[in-house]
Amino acid sequence: MSKNKISKNWLSERKRDFYFNQSKIQGYRSRAAYKLIEMNDKFKFIKKDTCLLDLGSCPGGWSQVAAKLITKGEILATDIKNMEKLNKVTFIRGDMNDKEFCEKIYKYFNKKVDVIISDMAANTTGNKDLDVYRTGELCLNSMDLSKKILKRDGVFLTKVFMGSVFEEVHEKAKKYFNKVIKYKPLASKSSSKEIYFFCKGLLNI
Ligand SMILES: C[S@@+](CC[C@H](N)C(=O)[O-])C[C@H]1O[C@@H](n2cnc3c(N)ncnc32)[C@H](O)[C@@H]1O
Repeated sequence: MSKNKISKNWLSERKRDFYFNQSKIQGYRSRAAYKLIEMNDKFKFIKKDTCLLDLGSCPGGWSQVAAKLITKGEILATDIKNMEKLNKVTFIRGDMNDKEFCEKIYKYFNKKVDVIISDMAANTTGNKDLDVYRTGELCLNSMDLSKKILKRDGVFLTKVFMGSVFEEVHEKAKKYFNKVIKYKPLASKSSSKEIYFFCKGLLNI
């Protein structure tokens, strides 16, 4: 298929996309916002006093959802790209593959946090297997950070792509957390290989 035809198809698919249209109406920066809304409705883990870390926050849909729910807590958002300012959200730019950046997050809080959400997806290279693997690596890194800075009864919610690294992420999640639930929100396109792990309660390891 020609490039022109692909982008025309993409545009007409976008116009028909319910969540994309809703995000424009409701002022969310991304359709991804509806994934977090649905997962929070199901698992009820974001409270008004939650201290939350949003990894891979750009353009900011998940942070917007968190900022609506959290009135007395704290929100730190991070991304390798810059994020436009959001009320009630502190943003730090950095790469989650960089150990020094993870240390910076750790020092920023200087206390344990209640919730870590990660919607990170490695920038695409054109090689789908490599992209899946690199997103899996980000997921493993954020799980290590969670082990360090999450409260014992805290929640870690992460995106992962089905593929080579999926089982490794799943195994590590089961090793680290008491409860691990796989969930595919309605707002996640059925054609997408993404799935989310809702993890709760750090195990003593
Ligand atoms: C699907 S988007 C997140 C959408 C966001 N949850 C929202 O609601 O707007 C994935 C994000 O992961 C970020 N990302 C990719 N690689 C990263 C890395 N190495 N470190 C930090 N963030 C990264 C991308 O820059 C991108 O903004």
